[in-house]
Amino acid sequence: MRMVDLIQKKRDGQELSTEEIQMIIKGFTDGSIPDYQMSAFAMATYFQGMSEQERADLTMAMVESGDVIDLSEIEGVKVDKHSTGGVGDTTTLVLAPLVAAVGVPVAKMSGRGLGHTGGTIDKLEAVPGFHVEIDKQQFIDLVNKNKVAVIGQTGNLTPADKKLYALRDVTATVNSIPLIASSIMSKKIAAGADAIVLDVKTGAGAFMKDLDDAKELAQAMVNIGNNVGRETMAVISDMSQPLGFAIGNALEIQEAIDTLKGEGPKDLEELCLALGSYMVYLAKKADSLEQAREMLEEVIKNGKALEALKVFLSAQGGDGSVVDDPSKLPQAEYVIDLEAKEDGYVSEIIADSIGTAAMLLGAGRATKESEIDLAVGLMLRKKIGDAVKAGDALVTIYSNQDQIEDVKEKIYNSIKISKDKVEAPPLVYGTIEK
Ligand code: URA
Ligand code: CA
Repeated sequence: MRMVDLIQKKRDGQELSTEEIQMIIKGFTDGSIPDYQMSAFAMATYFQGMSEQERADLTMAMVESGDVIDLSEIEGVKVDKHSTGGVGDTTTLVLAPLVAAVGVPVAKMSGRGLGHTGGTIDKLEAVPGFHVEIDKQQFIDLVNKNKVAVIGQTGNLTPADKKLYALRDVTATVNSIPLIASSIMSKKIAAGADAIVLDVKTGAGAFMKDLDDAKELAQAMVNIGNNVGRETMAVISDMSQPLGFAIGNALEIQEAIDTLKGEGPKDLEELCLALGSYMVYLAKKADSLEQAREMLEEVIKNGKALEALKVFLSAQGGDGSVVDDPSKLPQAEYVIDLEAKEDGYVSEIIADSIGTAAMLLGAGRATKESEIDLAVGLMLRKKIGDAVKAGDALVTIYSNQDQIEDVKEKIYNSIKISKDKVEAPPLVYGTIEK
């Protein structure tokens, strides 16, 4: 069949076969199907949607468009966690050592960040000496030995997705559930995941601002995973305000250390226990979610989770003693409290613009070429629902510049204070267990 016929078939709402979807993705990847035809196909999909079978086929066709990481030398079920992104999301830094401490292998391939703060690798590099430039065999050996290791992006994973995402970006077709779901799932599967736990964020600071959309995306991804033989579960969590208190690279490492000691922000701890329970359960290390949760609570209490972080950091060249003495992390020159101007209750913390404020300080990259300042960032002192008095610290700013009027202005504009009492938003809106 010619591409024009397949576009027409999709336009008219008919279901494409597995072979037809494979043909489209193969042709698009090798360049024999031009961008203008693929654009039309993306738009037809945007309006017509895709059946469960088409979604699974599209996902696997994109997986097969490039390299697939083979983690079969690692013992156990490799469970990966994916978050749809948010501001100050410290969960990966906590979860990796936390679940490793109960024997779940964490073989994480990660990247650098663009935007609010760094990606997981940037954050980890706040630990002096830590690096992800290890070869594949070292990576596998480390996971077998310590149950956790992180490696930088290697290989040519899902080139079809890369190309299609770029095309969707300029043809107003990003916002299609089947296309988003297959895009995310293809990357996780290509990176070697046997099972997948999804953290789908909703609220003002999330990619999916609307709760119903977040639920639909979560369900779509869970269905794809389970239809292609990767057990998948999802948590739908709040991003109407940043998670935890810390936004910034070294600050988030410090926050992860606190959380692994059981002394972190309650929302971050709770979300890590929820996601972690799913990971432990899918890795078949527990018979029920309740048991999984008890195991995680136990390793926080007895210090094994913190020890796992220390071992993980040291094994990749990092100074593991930061775990006992976080003052060894990069420190900012100026520490400034931003005070509330009036009494009331915090009613809004606009995550996106708080993230931008952190980026202006240097915690994130405005462009791919920007250098990150690992020491700087923000610590929230109040969260939605908290009572404040004029003069209370709302946010502590960690900066290496003394002229930061623009940052202060941005933070003041992102935090709304109401005279009336405000309820804290729920942290978890729902879960999808296949
Ligand atoms: N994130 C992805 O990885 N893919 C999408 O299509 C949208 C968000
Ligand atoms: Ca945080």
